[in-house]
Amino acid sequence: SLAATGTLVADAAAGRRAVAAFNVITLEHVEAVVEGAEAAGSPVILQISENAVKFHHGRPAPLARAAAEVARLATVPVALHLDHVHSTALLHQAADCGFSSVMFDAAHLPYQENLAATRAAADWAHRAGLWLEAELGEVGGKDGAAPLDAHAPGARTDPAEARAFVEATGVDALAVAVGSSHAMTSRTARLDHGLLARLHDALDVPLVLHGSSGVPDGELGRAVAGGITKVNIGTALNTAMTAAVRAHLADDPRTVDPRSYLAPARTAISRTVSELITVLAGAPEA
Ligand code: G3H
Ligand code: ZN
Repeated sequence: SLAATGTLVADAAAGRRAVAAFNVITLEHVEAVVEGAEAAGSPVILQISENAVKFHHGRPAPLARAAAEVARLATVPVALHLDHVHSTALLHQAADCGFSSVMFDAAHLPYQENLAATRAAADWAHRAGLWLEAELGEVGGKDGAAPLDAHAPGARTDPAEARAFVEATGVDALAVAVGSSHAMTSRTARLDHGLLARLHDALDVPLVLHGSSGVPDGELGRAVAGGITKVNIGTALNTAMTAAVRAHLADDPRTVDPRSYLAPARTAISRTVSELITVLAGAPEA
């Protein structure tokens, strides 16, 4: 059934669990994520990033509406989230396309500019009935220094700054920089669990882990036990998908029908999804 992100995250927080949010690019990703979540018997968030919208010629509606339809038919609750939005024009299309939530990403901006842009985005989102996630990870980049990439392995969120940021912007959730990094193809990230504990103490909003593909199972479990409530995963699905396509094409170079490689690709994604959901569900108690 189609659910709201805010509800799934609040339910996860109440149960001291995390809800997995998977980045989808194609209809096959959407079907696979929902199949994987159904196999695991867990709610799930489908997220479409601004980058994925760009791939679809800048139009969010076709994939989002298809995803909403797959969600409606699902046997588990499925929410739709618009991820890593920089463009306010795209933000303003979110509600019409069926998203219940948006991650507004101004983390590359200096602190005061991130705060102002995020507050404006949160105000707009709340008037439109949307749940808004933002990101604060620019602990570098102050006093004119070159800003760190928000997900550079060295970037960290400062707890006191994060508390002020959440109070000033009114965001519903915060993506924190605690050692994960986007687009990792090996699961070698080490998280700063002490910092996560201080962020969890300092903040009343749910915390979101980005770049989770690079985080090993044990670290993910500890992060959930330590207060991470939404776990964003993208690259791991594409690693599984592309490996399955490559294996199929190597095996049968005469392949013509795309379904012959998209079917095993979809199965590979859905297996990855149910495995990762199982890891999150098995998180030890803090
Ligand atoms: O917002 C999306 C996630 O942070 C995905 O990161 O592709 O490294 O798993 P990942
Ligand atoms: Zn991310």
